[in-house]
Amino acid sequence: MIIAIDGPAASGKGTLGKRLADHLGFAHLDTGLLYRAVAAVLLARGIPLSDREAAARAAESLDVSHLDAPDLRGAAMGEAASVISAYQPVRDALLAFQRQFGRQEPGAVLDGRDIGTVVCPDADVKLFITARPEERARRRHLELLRRGEDVAYETILADIRRRDERDMTRPTAPLKAAADAITLDTTNLDADAAFRAALAIIDGKL
Ligand code: C5P
Repeated sequence: MIIAIDGPAASGKGTLGKRLADHLGFAHLDTGLLYRAVAAVLLARGIPLSDREAAARAAESLDVSHLDAPDLRGAAMGEAASVISAYQPVRDALLAFQRQFGRQEPGAVLDGRDIGTVVCPDADVKLFITARPEERARRRHLELLRRGEDVAYETILADIRRRDERDMTRPTAPLKAAADAITLDTTNLDADAAFRAALAIIDGKL
């Protein structure tokens, strides 16, 4: 069984995905980490993010065993990931791993931008998680503060708006809800309420 969760930056889809996976005993993949890891390889080697060939090579030879590195989750890496994720060869190189991940028993939860549309179009349940940009910026601000990164709220809001725009308007696998996805707006829901709402949707689909 596959649960696909898509949505914009800092919508809470990662937290929700992990919680659902823990609850259901499923594997969980935060696919944003794959793009962040590719960006990290380029930055570590001093290669400009505009180098499409180098980005594609980094994606093809990505070591997926280090996706839990804490520096991947920082704000700068999210921005860099958004740049290289627009390159089709990068997306192509990461596709097989994601699809293979989704085949695990008894099931898998994958979250990202194009899971319901491109990676797992036959997913059993598709959720599209949204929240107003101001609320997403507020949450991301708190999260970064907890990790010791003191970035101004306004900077985070601007970053989120820029990333939304880039992710939604790129020609390859743009961020959008699949036709058969159920949209969950979490602007006024805390993590517990979002989890319960998602679980109710999943139960109703099974
Ligand atoms: O979800 P997260 O913020 O970690 O993703 C970082 C960036 O990676 C996103 O802004 C997006 O451009 C890209 N991404 C993507 N497709 C996915 C997951 C992430 O293009 N499935």
